[in-house]
Amino acid sequence: MSQYVIEGGRRLEGELQIEGSKNAVLPIIAATLLNEDITYIKNCPKIVDVKIMIEILEQLGCNIKWQDQTLIIDTRHLTTYVLNESLVKKMRSSIILLGALMGRCGEAQISQPGGCQLGARPIDLHLNALQKMNVDISEVDGMIYCNTVHLQGATINLKFPSVGATENIMLAATRSEGTTIIHNAAREPEIVDLQEFLVACGAKITGAGTSTIYIQGVKKLRGVVYQVIPDRIIAGTYLVAAAMTRGHVILNGISSNHLEATTSNLEMMGCQMVKEEKRIILSCPQELKGVNIITEPYPGFPTDMQSQMMVLLCTCKEPTYIKENLFEARFKIVDELKKMGAAIEVKDCIAYIKEYRKLTGTTICAKDLRGGAALVLAGLIAQGETTVQHIEHIERGYQNIVKDLSSLGAQIKERK
Ligand code: EPZ
Repeated sequence: MSQYVIEGGRRLEGELQIEGSKNAVLPIIAATLLNEDITYIKNCPKIVDVKIMIEILEQLGCNIKWQDQTLIIDTRHLTTYVLNESLVKKMRSSIILLGALMGRCGEAQISQPGGCQLGARPIDLHLNALQKMNVDISEVDGMIYCNTVHLQGATINLKFPSVGATENIMLAATRSEGTTIIHNAAREPEIVDLQEFLVACGAKITGAGTSTIYIQGVKKLRGVVYQVIPDRIIAGTYLVAAAMTRGHVILNGISSNHLEATTSNLEMMGCQMVKEEKRIILSCPQELKGVNIITEPYPGFPTDMQSQMMVLLCTCKEPTYIKENLFEARFKIVDELKKMGAAIEVKDCIAYIKEYRKLTGTTICAKDLRGGAALVLAGLIAQGETTVQHIEHIERGYQNIVKDLSSLGAQIKERK
């Protein structure tokens, strides 16, 4: 079981290029099933979740290969609509293959998805929407069977702006009959990127980025060459890493406007930032002022930055709190940070960072993707050596966190 070993106390300084977005590229890879052609996805991150998605599409009959940082996907010939259970259980976003397969062939068989254990993570919004689009759904022994003889557009009011459900509906609606309207749609930049990709393939979609998305079904799509947006959560992770070491970093190849909720909080804490369209320069005074964090759907503070922010708040003198509104079990790093000496108490969906404590390095355990990344950041500021176990969680979403942080001066290595 590989581990990361970090020697704390180094100030991060330097320049980094940010990789393509995991949460944009996964639905776009699923969307290639709709175009029955060859698609080139540029700036595709080489992360475990992309590897799993590739394996799932290959098992469906697609031919896929890498050309440097470009993924070439040939979806002209599908051989099955049954999704491999062991692969689906490795990743939550496999559920959006439902919408893509409904649009492609009107049939799909999938198990309940896996992925980060952040709470119940039901899929009722996905299934209810597909049923409204004339999809018959039955569940037997944990397997979900979907089929339709005629995929029909519908008006869907989401009770919560679910990212995955919004994406699933967009994928199914793209090649359905008639018009679909999604009310209370998720507004994340990854939803906009999915719309841009599908429109480039010939789809008729408008409204992504707002709460109402309109999709006019079309019969046929074509393959394209498409560049995925940069990963706003990875960019945010490295900005927070620099801030907690009171460092100075330049991040290139980003979309600054996707990071507004994170950067505005860092500025309220006292970080100085120069924000250009595709670059951010961050520098930090010795003292940062704690802020309280409340996670919300985009454009609110992203839940995927919550764990990283918790570690940064541990370096501030003021008592602060974090209210997690999206997932009921996203405070798993608290017990690990307490092993390092942090003064954090959790009550219901609020974590209280009670006072400043210098963290001490020890052996800790990653339990989910973003929490694992946050524990690596804790090692950067801890006294002595920190070992982070179960790094497989982190490798799902970070192409090379060791190389990136080392290039900024961190003392971190992987121990096989
Ligand atoms: C996406 O997950 C992201 N994953 C998550 O990032 C992110 O945390 C989340 O959106 C929120 O921004 C990908 O894009 C691959 P949701 P998703 O559906 O789609 C409830 C990461 O670290 N809900 O918006 O699963 C759900 O339980 C990952 O990169 C239902 O109740 O999130 C949760 O409380 C972690 N019924 C809330 O909605 C449903 O049918 C938000 O979930 C669907 C969701």
